[in-house]
Order: sequence, then C-alpha cells, then structure tokens
Amino acid sequence: MKNLLKLLDCSKEDIVSILDLADQLKYEKKHNIPHRHLEGRSLGMIFQKSSTRTRVSFEAGMYQLGGQAMFLSNRDLQIGRGEPVQDTARVLSRYLDGIMIRTFEQKEVEALAEYGSIPVINGMTDFSHPCQVLADLMTVREHFAQLEGLKMGFIGDGFNMANSLIVGCLKTGMEVSIATPEGYEPHPDVLAFAEAEQAKGAKFLLTHDVHKAAGNADVLFTDVWASMGQEGQAAQRRIDFAGFQINRELLACCKEGVMVQHCMPAHRGEEITDEVLEAHADEIFEESENRLHAQKAVMVTLMNRTEE
Ligand code: CP
Repeated sequence: MKNLLKLLDCSKEDIVSILDLADQLKYEKKHNIPHRHLEGRSLGMIFQKSSTRTRVSFEAGMYQLGGQAMFLSNRDLQIGRGEPVQDTARVLSRYLDGIMIRTFEQKEVEALAEYGSIPVINGMTDFSHPCQVLADLMTVREHFAQLEGLKMGFIGDGFNMANSLIVGCLKTGMEVSIATPEGYEPHPDVLAFAEAEQAKGAKFLLTHDVHKAAGNADVLFTDVWASMGQEGQAAQRRIDFAGFQINRELLACCKEGVMVQHCMPAHRGEEITDEVLEAHADEIFEESENRLHAQKAVMVTLMNRTEE
C-alpha cells in the first residue's frame, strides 16, 4: 500500500494487516509501551470540512507515534484561493512525510496522490471514509472476535459511509445488507464491486426495506440523513428518510445481542433514537476511540517505509 484513498484499492490482506497492527498499538497505548515509529516525521492535515474525531485522533496519534501533525485549514492554505491541487501536492511532498485530507470530491484526493510523492490518506470524501470503516471493522472484530460470516446491516443514506462499509465488510468476509430510501442508493462503482463479489459467493442485499436489512443482523450501522455539504437538503431528507431509523422496534428483528455502531456525530431522533444510542454507547464510543488506533496503524504502515 502506498496510499489510503479508498478501500476499493486495498486487498483483504492490507485491511487485516492494518487491523492487527491497530490492535497491537491499542494494547501498547493501554500499557504505556512506547511506540514512537514515526519519530521526526510530519503529517499535514488538510481540512476542507469540519471534524472532531478525525482531526483530534490523527493529531494525537501522530504525537503518540513520535511525529508531528499540522492542521492545514482550507481558509489558510492557498488551495482555498484556487492554487491547483497538483501544485499543492508537489510542494507539500517536499516538506512533509504524509498528507491526510478531508474534502468533498474523491478526485481531489486521487490527484494529490498522483502528483505528490508522499503517502496520502483520505480523511473523508463524498465517496468514501476508509479510516472510519477501518476503525469500524476493528471495533466489530474486537466485539465478536471475528468478522467472517457476521451480518452487517446499514440503514440510511447510500453515501460515503455506506460505500466504504460495503467494500470493507465484503472484503473481510461479512454478509452485507443495505437499506436506503429510493434515490439514495450507494455509488454505482461500489454496487458493481458488490455484484462481482456476489458472483463469487458473497452475500449482499440492497433494499428499501429496513426490516429486510436489519433482519438477523449481528451489527447495525447508520449515519446522518444529511451529511456535510447537504445541509440545504435537510428538510427534504427528513421527509425522504422517515422510517430509516435505528430504534427499539428495528433492533427487535436483529440477532439477540446485536451491536450498534455510528460513526458520529449523531442526530438523535433522526437516524437513531436517543434510547438506542445510550443503550449502545459503550460500543459506539469504543468505535470513536478506535479511530485513534486504526489511523495510527495506517500511518505506521504508509509512513514508516525506511525501516522495512
Ligand atoms: N466520524 C467522523 O469522521 O467524525 P468527524 O467528522 O468528527 O471527524
């Protein structure tokens, strides 16, 4: 792996290797065992959208690995005034050892990687959220001690989280069921991947029926009805997504002991009830914590190459 742009680019072995390293780094952090694998390295973090978890976990993670992280807001960089991403990539490659970017279009992340000469990590685009889903897979594997054969149900928008969950879960041998309202289905590239996996024997369902997606699920995921950049559609989406909620009634059709995950931030009363979020808070905040460990594993994998 040279970059983490989207999970479609990763093999199952890449994903499992990151999860294994993340588990090890989590253990070392909990037991105060030093793991300064990136001493003297710098990560630039470009944010064109807001963030709590991604920003803080990357910055804290880089510090724990002995390196330094720089927060580069769109408002401060020349990229915000129109400097092309191709030029920004070549300049930053001469100062830094890695770039994490959160932006709107996937093609910007791909262009950074194409023109730059240092690893690029996707901190979320409209197409994918690979760092989040690596943390999600880590959390589900910790909970069940396996991924293979578990059923993942996703309820909500077929946007970046659904896209990345479909790919990450299918690549690690999980069964995947997605329920979206009509017109909010996942990206065609992701559906083509899922169909190809189905042809090889994987279990995949895309439906508009939340009960079919949640039925017998081991773990249920959701995400907000209106993501960043879609605030102007929020009122229409509240109508379109009515019923696409994780609530007590929906959990009743899942497997007993179903796990609930939410990438956060959550809109309680929309995609998830306050009652369910609080009942599953330990699982959900473990998922948030695991952003730290999974991303440290990604950074060590991509930015520690001279030690190989
Ligand atoms: N889940 C997630 O990416 O959180 P932030 O938007 O706070 O980074």
